[in-house]
Amino acid sequence: MLTRCHIDRTPALCLGPCAVLPGYQRRGAGSAAIRAALAAAREKGEYFVVVLGHPTYYPRFGFTRASVHGIGLTIDVPDEALMALALDSGHPLPGGTVRYAAPFGI
Ligand SMILES: CC(C)(COP(=O)(O)OP(=O)(O)OC[C@H]1O[C@@H](n2cnc3c(N)ncnc32)[C@H](O)[C@@H]1OP(=O)(O)O)[C@@H](O)C(=O)NCCC(=O)NCCS
Repeated sequence: MLTRCHIDRTPALCLGPCAVLPGYQRRGAGSAAIRAALAAAREKGEYFVVVLGHPTYYPRFGFTRASVHGIGLTIDVPDEALMALALDSGHPLPGGTVRYAAPFGI
């Protein structure tokens, strides 16, 4: 799922939750769903996606460590777990604090 969030005041999307039923994991379903979601976001004119997740999984989709771009959170998480992706090379990631949608409580 992709939900609206902001990096400071810049609109962005947060990726998650993302889950595949255990019996169907490691068959490419998760990757297919994530690539489709990112493609849909790009087509809709979105520029930025952030994710809080496994640091060994999301880099394959182009995500890099958010702190390198000056992006942080208001809560304490392992630095490598917060990652970000620019969907359009003409729009580099902005620095700032990620503000999740209210239901996330972050
Ligand atoms: C993470 C998840 C969505 C991946 O979906 P999937 O369909 O199993 O993934 P794919 O088949 O597309 O990709 C498999 C690859 O993901 C890797 N992977 C799966 N789960 C991983 C994890 N928790 N951490 C790191 N890598 C993981 C596998 O090692 C495999 O790597 P390889 O291609 O180098 O062999 C799925 O494992 C899941 O639902 N996990 C439980 C919920 C969860 O942790 N969600 C993510 C919250 S951040």
